[in-house]
Amino acid sequence: MKLNRREFLLLTTGLVAGCKTANEVGGSARTINAGSASNFSRDGVYTNFRDDGFFLIRRDGKLFVLSAICTHRNCKLIAEPDKSFYCKCHDSTFDPNGHVTEGPAKIDLPVLPSFTNEHGELIVTVAAT
Ligand code: FES
Repeated sequence: MKLNRREFLLLTTGLVAGCKTANEVGGSARTINAGSASNFSRDGVYTNFRDDGFFLIRRDGKLFVLSAICTHRNCKLIAEPDKSFYCKCHDSTFDPNGHVTEGPAKIDLPVLPSFTNEHGELIVTVAAT
């Protein structure tokens, strides 16, 4: 079978994308029990789980989980006093919602899946890196 340049690129791009998807599916996402959700009842950024790859954020009564891993090259972020996030590796910055405010990062921080179980504990799913 002879492929032209466009067909070759489409095929190889699809293969690479397929490999990545297979790795992600085969990779081990971790679930982390962050303990009682009532421990995070005050508005603010909780950095307790930074080393596990996420920040817990309570704002206006809502609790959500934001990745603590820079989308540029996977360095751990630092939570700043103004509730924004800073990457010391190459100086990317993110606003309190995880949106890029300064590159080189171009992709916003993902909100990670979480739920509260029947015991009132917050369970967070962190993708393997
Ligand atoms: S790893 Fe964060 S800016 Fe490069």
